[in-house]
Amino acid sequence: MLSLDKNYNYGKHYIVLPIIVRELSIQSMAEIGVHSGMLTKAILSGCPSIQKYHMIDPWILPKCKHEYAEAIYNRALIVRNTYRTQTYMIARTSLDAVDRFEDGKLDFAYIDGNHSHEHVLQDITIWWSKIRSGGYMGGHDLDSKHGHGVRSAIESAPVLDGLTIHHGTPPINWHGVWMVHKP
Ligand SMILES: C[S@@+](CC[C@H](N)C(=O)[O-])C[C@H]1O[C@@H](n2cnc3c(N)ncnc32)[C@H](O)[C@@H]1O
Repeated sequence: MLSLDKNYNYGKHYIVLPIIVRELSIQSMAEIGVHSGMLTKAILSGCPSIQKYHMIDPWILPKCKHEYAEAIYNRALIVRNTYRTQTYMIARTSLDAVDRFEDGKLDFAYIDGNHSHEHVLQDITIWWSKIRSGGYMGGHDLDSKHGHGVRSAIESAPVLDGLTIHHGTPPINWHGVWMVHKP
């Protein structure tokens, strides 16, 4: 059983998060913001407990050329096809995808889409009810240069009020990964 008070100093989040997912025996998970599927691959290759993995991303990268966005999507598709019995690819925004999920079913929702304060706050709020009691919410880029809205959103989200945000302890940390246990 994972202790969320423990430090996992194994390098980047691609290494840290699969360890956490494995130790928590996560079976059903949604990754909000997938990009090319690097994290998806790291988790699916390292976590035999996973039975359902939902990859959610519109795969429209506004600041990028169409060809680049297509290449990113195709890489994610390869990951999906490699693990096709467990994975579900949903090419929609977080807000457009969330209604496909029943309340209280996910073991883990991982928030790594648009990192603005408004979007992270929205993602935390809309995905919280989809997680079962005893499950987990987490995300990435806490206090990183890419995560300008992440900490403020976590700290102002009513659903997380009073709950402990786990992220390792500096200088050893979870490389931007944050986790909350849902009571
Ligand atoms: C930081 S990347 C995700 C990285 C991935 N989780 C990993 O660790 O390999 C952010 C992704 O979020 C996606 N994104 C942006 N806005 C989104 C939204 N509203 N809903 C879902 N995904 C979104 C982008 O298309 C981009 O691919």
